Amino acid sequence: MSKPDLEPCFNWRGRYEEDHTPWDLGGEHPGLAEWVRENPGAGRSALVPGCGRGHDPLMLSESGWRVDALDLVDLAGERLGGDFTKNGSRFLVTNVLDFDPHGPEGLGTYDLIFEHTIFCAISHDQRPLFARNMERCLKPGGVLISLLFPTNKPTEEGGPPFRATPAELTAELGDSFELLEDEPWTPTSGRRRWEERRLIFRRR
Ligand SMILES: C[S@@+](CC[C@H](N)C(=O)[O-])C[C@H]1O[C@@H](n2cnc3c(N)ncnc32)[C@H](O)[C@@H]1O
Repeated sequence: MSKPDLEPCFNWRGRYEEDHTPWDLGGEHPGLAEWVRENPGAGRSALVPGCGRGHDPLMLSESGWRVDALDLVDLAGERLGGDFTKNGSRFLVTNVLDFDPHGPEGLGTYDLIFEHTIFCAISHDQRPLFARNMERCLKPGGVLISLLFPTNKPTEEGGPPFRATPAELTAELGDSFELLEDEPWTPTSGRRRWEERRLIFRRR
């Protein structure tokens, strides 16, 4: 069997070197913050793949979640210093497509996965790999929250961000995931030209 292609479709490092990261909201996503107010971590574990500058994982860690925040680029995760790591949370420079929760860097499966503009940041070809790895990383009964974007971008405009619809994400995740919520989300930033939705899944 040929090895899966794990190469990124974009020069993410270049964006951090140029300090040009237009996806960055400058703080945690309000759709995550709202959910976390009702669901404090109390020591439970969360995975944030493609964490970027780290606003979402930092808020989760401050709310009692022990977080593993992953990014390909070591220059990302700049906010993930002592306040973040004091409860055991970690910033790991690794590829989310083959991160092994049971491997040398892993601490076992997670109670929560937060997907925020990582599904739209990988190529369409890599989506099955992403979905199968999220299935591997999440505990049965665990929750995957997606702030899905850009749901109405025409496919022919390409990406990243690549068009990502609720139907596409649901189909990729497959029968191991039960869709609990699919709601429109008010655009979080004037720079986001396309629509966002919040989807919540439970791992069967
Ligand atoms: C569009 S940015 C989103 C960052 C963050 N989630 C946010 O919303 O601010 C995508 C991030 O995913 C990272 N990334 C892209 N492909 C990745 C992969 N295969 N594994 C890990 N990180 C990846 C990039 O370096 C970048 O930081």
